[in-house]
Amino acid sequence: MNQWTDILDVNDIPRLGARVVRHGNLDIAVFRTADDEVFALEDRCPHKGGPLSQGIVHGRKVTCPMHGWNVELASGCAVAPDEGCAREFPVRLESGRVWLDLSSVSAAAA
Ligand code: FES
Repeated sequence: MNQWTDILDVNDIPRLGARVVRHGNLDIAVFRTADDEVFALEDRCPHKGGPLSQGIVHGRKVTCPMHGWNVELASGCAVAPDEGCAREFPVRLESGRVWLDLSSVSAAAA
């Protein structure tokens, strides 16, 4: 069952950047695109665990600050030829507030 939880105001996330939300031992990077779309991924690059939240968002991708892999925000997966995926969490935007499905987060943290 979904457990939608209001986690922050979209204006607390820099455009083309991210804000980290901690749940248990999991760091979740919540990204904001130029068009104010929001996405949530575990804050660990599928390459060597770099902090995706510190990368630059372009379009619907983020570039990892460590070695420059590009990761799709919608899926968490690296753009070919690189391979691997960061965990992706359901998130939605409603009246300027960002909601995260904590049931999926708890399952990932377990
Ligand atoms: S850790 Fe992200 S590109 Fe290497």
